[in-house]
Order: sequence, then structure tokens, then C-alpha cells
Amino acid sequence: SKVVLAYSGGLDTSVILKWLQQTYGCEVVTFTADLGQGEELEPARAKAELMGVRPEHIFIDDLREEFVRDYVFPMMRSNALYEGLYLLGTSIARPLIAKRQIEIARQVNADAVSHGATGKGNDQVRFELGYYALAPDIKVIAPWREWDLTSRTRLIEWAEQHQIPIPHNKRGEAPFSTDANLLHTSSEGLVLEDPWEEVPDYVYSRTVNPEDAPDAPEFITVDFERGDGVALNGEGMSPATLLARLNDLGRAHGIGRLDLVENRFVGMKSRGMYETPGGTIYHLAHRGIEQITLDRGAAHLKDELAPRYAELIYNGFWFSPEREMLQAAIDHSQEKVIGTVRLKLYKGAAHIVGRKSPHTLYSEKVVTFEDDQGAYDQRDAAGFIKLNALRLRLLGRRDR
Ligand code: ARG
Ligand code: SIN
Repeated sequence: SKVVLAYSGGLDTSVILKWLQQTYGCEVVTFTADLGQGEELEPARAKAELMGVRPEHIFIDDLREEFVRDYVFPMMRSNALYEGLYLLGTSIARPLIAKRQIEIARQVNADAVSHGATGKGNDQVRFELGYYALAPDIKVIAPWREWDLTSRTRLIEWAEQHQIPIPHNKRGEAPFSTDANLLHTSSEGLVLEDPWEEVPDYVYSRTVNPEDAPDAPEFITVDFERGDGVALNGEGMSPATLLARLNDLGRAHGIGRLDLVENRFVGMKSRGMYETPGGTIYHLAHRGIEQITLDRGAAHLKDELAPRYAELIYNGFWFSPEREMLQAAIDHSQEKVIGTVRLKLYKGAAHIVGRKSPHTLYSEKVVTFEDDQGAYDQRDAAGFIKLNALRLRLLGRRDR
């Protein structure tokens, strides 16, 4: 039998690879996704080969465009933020990894899939809900829930005993756990576990400290078509390129840092630090273009749906009918979300400073405090307020 493992090439999934071969006596197929984590992936191939994985069973795929076009951008159309702050950088990547893993399982005739997420977190749920939605009868192997390697030290000992190539910095390994892709880098655990202790500087990897950011602001424009970013400073580019370029800008200006205590789906609270440089700018830009192109009713309904949408993504229900229903409504709302947003990047923050659209609903003629030449009759407001006040007046008369 065969098992397809989501393999990063790091120590944990290398131990898992060997453990699967030994414990289950099965042939392991590795899948490594390039989601823009900014790491060389060829070493993962070499490592897998070294552990006896057959060359035709090593899959390394560049999923960057698909990730941004079909996952990040659709989510951004909703303005989703989990618990008001988290841009869902890890959550939104898991369904794509799960989908590709199942495709590979079909291709190589595997009957099982495996991942390196622990039994305490959200990621196990996200991977496995994806697997089961796409392949209802698949067998799932989650080593962290099965083995007795209950600490890092034991994991490293086991790796040494089994001749697993350990990075030379293994014991000096980052004293926290990370997950990275084009949208964000998240860090959790160890030195971050005390929520009263400030995140140490060395944990940040993809933004400069806002205090050290340039003293001069930088102005940029982002063009939108049907709710999706299509150009930066007037230059058209693909979704993944646009996000990568915004990441460079966000990094330089120290934008998108977040220290958060959040509620995991399994019930515990966890403290994490996120860096979402480009995503933070993009999220704000999208709100900027919606400000002038969405009607109030549509906009406010979207604002009510956004936390629901965020919770679905966070909890791993990307492949669910309720997410697809919400997506259809959100996508429908984006038809005329077209135009240009101008932003100022300065010392850790992005600010909207301008927006324009061929489909704008903003009417200077109506809103002006100068002479509007009959565009709006102020006398209409008296009746509008009187009727809105009617029940308040009835209450006031009764209760005063
Ligand atoms: N708490 C984040 C989420 O649930 C990130 C999880 C993975 N991050 C990590 N550093 N292992 O989406
Ligand atoms: C993990 O448990 O593997 C990472 C954290 C999470 O999934 O929430």
C-alpha cells in the first residue's frame, strides 16, 4: 500500500516519512508544495531520495499562482478577518495542499494520506476535512496523534537513531514553530507561549521593525477588476506577482505585524505572531475600492457575512456547501468593484488616501456642502427624521 505525505523537507516531516515506512511498512510518496514560503525545495527531493523514496514518487509542485488566484483572492473579496484581526494566512493554504494531495493519491493509487500537524491544533482539522470532502474513503495517518515522540528532544533522538539527516542547526533550531507562504508567516509556541511577554525581535522574519522603516512615506496604487487586484502602480501583473510585490513594499515599511491570542477550533486559546505584509495592504486596498463601488445595503450585508466566512475558513470548511453559498453571494457583489485605490505606506501602516472608479456611487454633486443646484432637497430630510423619530416620541411620551 502507499501513503501520500505532505512533506516540507524539514525535520518533523522527515521523521514522519521514516516512521511511516517503519510503522506501516508502506511505500511513502512525498508531496512538497511551493506556496511561496521562500525556501529552496530541491533539498526536499534530495532528502526524500536519501530516505528511499522512489524518484517517481517525489512530487514538488509550484502552486503559487493557484494559491493566490483561487484561494487568497476569493477570500479577500469577503474581507475576512478571524476574530477581527487575523488574515488567515495558514488557514487558507491548507485546503489547497489537501486538494493536491488527494489528486496525487489518485494518480499513484495510494489508499492513505498523511500530514505533520499536531493533535492540538487547527491544521489537522483543515487537512483532514479537505481529504474527507474530496475522497470520502481515504485513510488518514496523523503521526503526531499516534506515536510516543512526545517532545522535541525525543524526536531528535529518534532522528539520530534512524540516520535521518538533521540540519546542523537542529538544537539551535528556531525556538518557536513557523508556517510560511506568500500570504504570511506565522510563529507559535515556545518563546511565544507566555502571552504577557512581548514577541522578541528575532521572531520577525519578513518585515522591518516599523521604528526602523523609512522616514519618507511611499505612495502606491492598486487597480481592481471585479474585486481582484490586477495592477500595481498601473503595471498589470498576475495575482501571485502582485502579492509578492506588495510583500516587498510591506516588508520595507514594516507593515502587517500582528501579535494575537486566538481561539483554536479544538477549544484552547493560543498565542501567535503573524506577519502579513502584502496581505495587510491588499485587504485595506480592497476595502478602499468597495467604499465607492458597493451600495450600503450590499456593503453592510458583506460586513455581517465576513466573520461567518472567516470562521468557516479558520475551522477548515473550505470544501463545504455553506462556504460555497457565501462565496457565490460575495462574488456576485464584486461585479462592479472596479477601479483604483491610492495608498500611503508609512512606518508600519498602510492608509487609503484616494479611490476612483468608472462605477463609483460617490456623488460629489449630492454630497457637497456648497450649492448642489437641486441635486438634493434638504427639506426631504425633515420628514425622513420625523418618521424615524415617531416610535421614539411615542416611547418618550409614555415613559417620561
Ligand atoms: N494559528 C494559525 C492558524 O490556525 C497558524 C497555525 C500554524 N502555525 C504554526 N506556526 N505552526 O491558522
Ligand atoms: C499544529 O498543531 O500543527 C500547528 C498549530 C495549529 O494547527 O493550530
